[in-house]
Formats: sequence, C-alpha cells, structure tokens
Amino acid sequence: MSLTEKVVLIVGAGRGIGRASALLFAEAGASLVLASRTEGELAELETEIERRYGGDVLSVPTDATNASSVGRLTGEALKRFGRIDTLIYAAGEGVLKPFAETTEEEFERLLNVNVKGAFLVCQSVVPLMEKQKGGHVIALPGILGRAPMAQAAAYCASKYALTGMLKSLALETKRAGVRFSLLHLGGVDSSFWDNITMRVQREKMLSVEAAARAVFFAASQEGEGVLGELVLQPESHQL
Ligand SMILES: NC(=O)c1ccc[n+]([C@@H]2O[C@H](COP(=O)([O-])OP(=O)(O)OC[C@H]3O[C@@H](n4cnc5c(N)ncnc54)[C@H](OP(=O)(O)O)[C@@H]3O)[C@@H](O)[C@H]2O)c1
Repeated sequence: MSLTEKVVLIVGAGRGIGRASALLFAEAGASLVLASRTEGELAELETEIERRYGGDVLSVPTDATNASSVGRLTGEALKRFGRIDTLIYAAGEGVLKPFAETTEEEFERLLNVNVKGAFLVCQSVVPLMEKQKGGHVIALPGILGRAPMAQAAAYCASKYALTGMLKSLALETKRAGVRFSLLHLGGVDSSFWDNITMRVQREKMLSVEAAARAVFFAASQEGEGVLGELVLQPESHQL
C-alpha cells in the first residue's frame, strides 16, 4: 500500500512536529485525520493543506486525555475513511525545572497527556489495526524517553513510561501485524519550549521540518523491516 492510499491519524496535529508531519503526509497524498484541542489551529491547518495539496482531510477537535473525546475521534475517522493505517501520537507537553520546584499539578499534567493520552488513543485505535491485520503506531518519547537529563525528572518519568508502555504493547500485538516506531528526537524548536524557563539554545535545535522528516521516514518503511527506534539529535548534541 503506498502512502497515497493510507489513512493517517495525527494526534497533536495543531502545532509543532504534528503539524509539520501533517504537511509532509498531505504532500505525499495520504488521507489525514487531524486532532488536538485547539479548534482554530486545526481549521487553519486543514485550510492550508487543502490550498496546497487539495487533500482529503478531516479535523476533529480532541482532548487525548479524555476517553469519550478519543472515542468520538476514532468514530468520526472510521465513519469518514473506514480504517486507520497510521497513528502518530504527537501530543505532549514538557516541564523542565529542578525537581524540588516541580509541583504535583505539573507532574500529573505530564503523566496525563504524555502517557494516559497515548494509552487512551492506543486503546481506541490499536484494536482496529489488529482487526485490519495491519497498522503502524509512531510515537515521540524523545531522547528523554531513553536517557535522563537533569531538571527533567517529571518529564523523563512520563516519557520513560510511554516508552515502556508502547514496547510492551508492541510485543502484545506483533502477531496481528501492528508495528511500533519510537522516535527519540533531541530538542526540536517548537512551541513546546515557549513556556519553559530553563535556558536553552533554540537556534541550535532540530527544526520541526527535520523532526517531521523522521516521522515520515519511519512511516514509509515497507516490507519485512520495522523501524523500532530512531535517534535524531541536533549536531550540537550528537551521541
Ligand atoms: N520539541 C521538542 O524538543 C521535542 C523533542 C522530543 C520529543 N518531543 C515530543 O514530541 C511531541 C510533540 O512536541 P512538539 O514539539 O510538536 O510540541 P508542541 O509544538 O507544543 O505541540 C504539541 C501538540 O500537542 C497537542 N496537545 C497537547 N495536549 C493535548 C491533548 N490533551 N490532547 C490533544 N492534543 C494535545 C497541542 O495542541 P493543543 O494544545 O491545541 O491540544 C499541539 O498541537 C511531544 O510529545 C513532545 O514531548 C518534543
């Protein structure tokens, strides 16, 4: 199946890596389901895709941390396209600050969107993929879902949890032809960093377009090989 025949669901599509990925998949001719909470950003992206590529796009404002919102998303996607071939879970949030200053509310917020959201979306979408006898889940634990960093305890807790959950799920569903790719990207210059006070050099980070190319590369692997994990770092942080 080429990408032109694929239905790609992007959760976290409104901004950042999800948005840049949506543009790449639209250019390749995939049918797209776009989800995130901010309706205006989805509408703007849908218009942009239709203007540039004339693609088949469905936007569904969705809160990934809410089970009924996720159920509505999957239902609308199925009603429109009848299947979901690729799920990109690009929703997420970051809090990077000293452990002692991290609040309980921040800890819970990170676990909610970075882990529970992925749990709910996978619970809704992966059984469909099993029934279809195929599908591909691409998630973005980032490099902090694989290696620790100072002032990232809460964020690492959520991203290591995401890595562990999806690796377990991959083992559980591999006989049904569901593939999982975990992308461990270093810093990506997106709105993720807008409310982070830690001093970082955004100009040295990966662009959202470079991150989206990695997502697209993972999604484009065909045949017997599965791209299980990919590390992509800015030049300043390689290895
Ligand atoms: N930027 C980096 O340096 C970097 C590096 C490695 C990995 N990552 C990971 O990559 C993913 C995407 O990051 P990004 O840089 O693209 O961040 P971003 O620019 O902040 O975009 C995050 C997207 O997720 C959506 N989102 C947040 N909470 C949501 C929820 N509850 N339900 C549905 N959608 C939700 C946001 O839209 P709404 O707020 O409108 O819902 C937005 O569209 C995240 O998981 C992040 O942890 C980022």
